[in-house]
Amino acid sequence: MANYETILIEKQEGIAVLTINRPDKLNALNSQVHLEGVAALDDLKEDKDVRVVVITGAGDKSFIAGADISEFAGKTPVTQRAVFQNETLFNSVDTFPKPVIAMINGFCLGGGCELSLACDIRIASENAKIGQPEINLGIIPGGGGTQRLTRLIGEGKSMELILTGDMIDADTALELGLVNHVFSAEDLEEKTLKMAGKIASKSPIALQMAKEAVKTASKATLDEGLRREIDLFAICFSSEDKEEGVAAFLEKRKPEFKGK
Ligand code: COA
Repeated sequence: MANYETILIEKQEGIAVLTINRPDKLNALNSQVHLEGVAALDDLKEDKDVRVVVITGAGDKSFIAGADISEFAGKTPVTQRAVFQNETLFNSVDTFPKPVIAMINGFCLGGGCELSLACDIRIASENAKIGQPEINLGIIPGGGGTQRLTRLIGEGKSMELILTGDMIDADTALELGLVNHVFSAEDLEEKTLKMAGKIASKSPIALQMAKEAVKTASKATLDEGLRREIDLFAICFSSEDKEEGVAAFLEKRKPEFKGK
């Protein structure tokens, strides 16, 4: 794995923790973070020892305080459109074949909220402040926020957050279904890694099929989604992991999934 300036990667027992490391700028996403993050995810995709990725921000104040606003100055429509149409962290996380958990420690704003929305599960600390404040800059979310937030929490609440630019606290985000769990700042890492570890103990093949099947739900009609689910379900039957899972159940032991 290459050395990066704006991100850190730590691996332990099937889990890779990808930390956005610009704490003095509250981990704002500049183009270097996107470039390095995309490259790191490309490596983690191929790494057989990594079954789950956790994304977080350095320091205890901020997950990600949005796109790096200083890069917006002087951008034209054409250059800005090209930036977001290129391979970004949003796209790389969305299409990443393994589960990705956002561990939200503090400010989770704009592109930070959008990155968390591209993740599969969001776990927040009590001090999290979440929002889409782009409207205050005279722009709108451009990293998937209008689409993914609306699919996750519904049009009315999504509209309110995007039109007011207000930040909400972790408990409100939990009520809205924007985050899955809220823990104290001290417990956040332990609880998140515990869930990541549980997921990492499953069959990587089944995890990939499950993720793709669930993601299909927001993109396809019910009939298309149900057909896709049957195909992905059937693919699991080609794996050694399925034989191992069934045998372990019948033999009353814990399965050992090898990702084959
Ligand atoms: N882009 C670039 N720099 C950012 C940033 C962003 N999105 N968010 C914070 N920073 C920088 C600040 O400019 C400051 O840098 P400096 O020390 O060189 O001046 C540093 O991070 C610390 O931020 P600061 O504003 O001093 O912290 P705070 O605790 O007073 O306020 C926020 C925290 C999150 C409320 C405030 O930084 C903020 O509103 N950030 C922008 C959020 C936003 O609009 N995101 C969407 C972008 S599209």
